[in-house]
Amino acid sequence: MRLAIYPGSFDPPTNGHLDIINRSLRLFDKVVVAVAFNPGKGSALFSVDERKSLIQACIQDPRLEVDSFSGLLVDYAVKRGAIAVVRGLRAVSDFEYEFQMANMNRKLNVSVEAVFLMTNEENFYISSRLVREVAAFHGDIRGLVPGPVLQALHRKYPPPA
Ligand code: PNS
Repeated sequence: MRLAIYPGSFDPPTNGHLDIINRSLRLFDKVVVAVAFNPGKGSALFSVDERKSLIQACIQDPRLEVDSFSGLLVDYAVKRGAIAVVRGLRAVSDFEYEFQMANMNRKLNVSVEAVFLMTNEENFYISSRLVREVAAFHGDIRGLVPGPVLQALHRKYPPPA
C-alpha cells in the first residue's frame, strides 16, 4: 500500500489544504494528514485536537486518516511506513522554505521522498496566517476556508452585530 503523509500546522485548515488532500488521495492508496505539535510556531488559534476534528469534518474518505505527531517528521513518516511526504506549493516564495525542509529531511533519512503538489490557482494566495488575521478583524473569509472552518472561526471571532 502506497501511503503518504501530508504534514502541517493546519491552523486553521484552508481550501488550499483541502485541495492538496484531494490531489494526494488521487495519487496514493492512503493519505495521513498529520497535524504537527509545533512549539516553534508560538501559540496556536486552534488546539491540535480542534484542527484534527476540522479536517475530519471537511473530508470524508475511508482512505484518509487524520493524526497528529510531535518530534521529527521523518521519524513519524518511517513509523507510519510512508513512501512520501506531500507538501503544497503555492508560489515561488514557498519554494525556498520547502527546499530547505525537504533537504534537511533527506539528510535525516534518505528513504522518505518529498512530493510537491500545486494547489489550484484560486488558492495561490490563501494561507492560514492571513485567514487568521482577516477573521480576527471580521473580514470576509468565505471562499477561503471550508464550511466547518468558517463556522469555527466565527465562533472564535463572533461577527459584530
Ligand atoms: O504548515 P507548516 O507550519 O508549514 O508545517 C511545517 C511542518 C510541521 C511540516 C514542519 O515544521 C515539520 O516537519 N515539523 C516537525 C519537526 C521536524 O521534523 N523538523 C525538521 C524538518 S526540517
